[in-house]
Amino acid sequence: MLKNMDSAIISNKRIADCIYEMVLFCPDADLKEFVPGQFADIEIPNRKDLILKRPLSINKVNVEEKMVTLIYQLVGEGTNSLIELKPNDSLKAILPIGRGFHLASEQKDVMLVGGGVGIAPLYTVIQRWPDKNYDVYLGYRGIDCAYCMDDFKEACSDVCVTSNDGTIGEKGFVTEALSKRLKNKKPDVILTCGTLPMLKSLKAVVGDVPVQASLEQRMGCGFGACAACVCGIKNKDGFEYKKVCTEGPVFDLAEVQL
Ligand code: FES
Repeated sequence: MLKNMDSAIISNKRIADCIYEMVLFCPDADLKEFVPGQFADIEIPNRKDLILKRPLSINKVNVEEKMVTLIYQLVGEGTNSLIELKPNDSLKAILPIGRGFHLASEQKDVMLVGGGVGIAPLYTVIQRWPDKNYDVYLGYRGIDCAYCMDDFKEACSDVCVTSNDGTIGEKGFVTEALSKRLKNKKPDVILTCGTLPMLKSLKAVVGDVPVQASLEQRMGCGFGACAACVCGIKNKDGFEYKKVCTEGPVFDLAEVQL
């Protein structure tokens, strides 16, 4: 049963161009069961006109301290209200929810591929499964949008950074760098999160490597009641619509209709 829980804001700050980090104290959340790729559904405080919650990525989880770090992009009125919130303000949140990534014990070599705000949830994969061998690919628009790089570099020795404008890392799309790497090395699995164009490019270069993709879908209710978040997923008869909020956000990329 999903609980809309009171959470206190510890900090809320801009960390890159249009990217914000909010740390929440969530005393009632069951964080022991957190699975990387799960997200938080946040109510916008003091805005009765904005009735829909906003799905935000979970970037770090501290089970002992009952704290969760969220990363979000400033994209509209809801997030514009969120950036005004200060430490000690409170909000209601449902978290952690959704179906996240899974790694089998035999899947040792893992590539993480993130683009823009989609980089945020991938860090929890390393937190949860620190004993895997990671190759990390982080794609940003440019240096002003870069965040979380140091976290990944501290945790992994193989981190490739790309930017569309060449102001940081290799110039080009993250999928171009990945494509070159896949010619020499095949991981057991790729875990990814990013925009639909990025996922399309990824699908075109991965060959037979299994890919789990977290979809950045617009949502309504966040708990399976409104069907605002559906996406087409292949089945034996063609495809069916699945709800990203409850049946995702993580799906096998090969099954997703892009
Ligand atoms: Fe309402 Fe998914 S957001 S069903």
